[in-house]
Amino acid sequence: MTQLSGSSDVPSMGRRQFMNLLTFGTASATAAAALYPVVKYFLPPSSGGKGGGLTAKDALGNDVSASEFTATHKPTERSLAQGFKGDPTYIIVDGEGSIASYGLNAVCTHLGCVVPWNAGENKFMCPCHGSQYNNEGKVVRGPAPRSLALVHATVDDDKVIFTPWTETDFRTGEDPWWA
Ligand code: FES
Repeated sequence: MTQLSGSSDVPSMGRRQFMNLLTFGTASATAAAALYPVVKYFLPPSSGGKGGGLTAKDALGNDVSASEFTATHKPTERSLAQGFKGDPTYIIVDGEGSIASYGLNAVCTHLGCVVPWNAGENKFMCPCHGSQYNNEGKVVRGPAPRSLALVHATVDDDKVIFTPWTETDFRTGEDPWWA
């Protein structure tokens, strides 16, 4: 008798558990949907950007204004901003005084020092072990094995936006080693 009622309970328990699971699942989905705008609000606005882009930040963490940058930097000047993963990344002013369409990750491809721009030599010269890169970041002297990594740089609503460079490296004609 006990056994019979016990066995007849099995399917109903199973159903109840299933219903609980379903209710819990629905509640979780509803909660997730309700929380999404809240979570999104707390995410840094520039961490996503358009199409995988990232707004370049200055040393204080403020968005880099393209008009201010070109007003305060001479043509052909290169200056550091924060790029992907917080890597120091050069924004370049081209010969016309506009933001160049590419930026350069300043991390030396030898052992990771930040490579300063030397305007007098028209090169990036690493102080750590003497590697040199030309004005486009192409390695011209070792021990660095590779050129500085490229990013795309565009201007949107007066902000400098970096996007990943996944195409051929225009300096070497090779696939990008960093992508
Ligand atoms: S880290 Fe730049 S040359 Fe070694």
